[in-house]
Amino acid sequence: MSAVNRSKRITVRDIRAAKHKTSLVCLTAYTAPVASVLDDRVDLLLVGDSLGMVIYGMDSTLAVTLDMMIAHGRAVMRATKHAFVLVDLPFGSYEASPEQAFRSASRVMAETGCQAVKIEGGVEMAPTVRFLVDRGIPVMAHIGLMPQAVNAIGGFRAQGLSDAEAQQIAADGAAMVDAGAFAIVIEGTSEPLARKLTAELPVPTIGIGASPACDGQILVTDDLLGLFADFTPKFVKRYANLAGSIGDAVDAYAADVRARDFPGPEHCYGVEKTK
Ligand code: KIV
Repeated sequence: MSAVNRSKRITVRDIRAAKHKTSLVCLTAYTAPVASVLDDRVDLLLVGDSLGMVIYGMDSTLAVTLDMMIAHGRAVMRATKHAFVLVDLPFGSYEASPEQAFRSASRVMAETGCQAVKIEGGVEMAPTVRFLVDRGIPVMAHIGLMPQAVNAIGGFRAQGLSDAEAQQIAADGAAMVDAGAFAIVIEGTSEPLARKLTAELPVPTIGIGASPACDGQILVTDDLLGLFADFTPKFVKRYANLAGSIGDAVDAYAADVRARDFPGPEHCYGVEKTK
């Protein structure tokens, strides 16, 4: 059971206060029905730009737009009352300047009602994070494997395994803390490095393919539910096989339709009930 207060919506203060006290339970949510099932069960819901790949079948997150993030952010906010909800700023909506980032982040906050935004990036994004935080926008940072940099890093591969990469990621984490980020996602990063950063940084770290020592864990909900039949990354644990269940249900429906067993009289209007 989480130590986070559940009598009202979880706030940035609650998330910050969880450092070293509890392990924050975090998942992605993109739609109202899924968000409403998750709301009471988790501490934090991320409307991640992973929705481009998960919902829209894109190869990467690069083509996700701010309008898509806002539409899904609104759906998730409508369906939730308890979880802390934050929305990713998508590729191209914040990197050009702090002012561009503020325009995008303020639209997300105003049009969705969410509580924070998440930004991928390290040292180079620190002035932008500072600019947003100073203007009242809570920012969660995202370091280590940054999917929006997939072309720059040459694919989705674990980070921080060499000394040079580890030093860079440590510098990214420190820069994000100095810039005022209230928490940091560490993705696809060497376990000892994620453990060390969690011990050293004063804000909660949320791991995905990082370390059990992180102050919380996040997964893409569709991955843990087994909604993808083809590929499961190493860091995902599957807790269900919904792709299999959906397939079985649709097979049963198809058999009923082909046999003219569906719809039955109970599904039709104006049909006398037979005794
Ligand atoms: O977009 C996303 O879902 C994310 C999580 C994987 C952390 O950034």
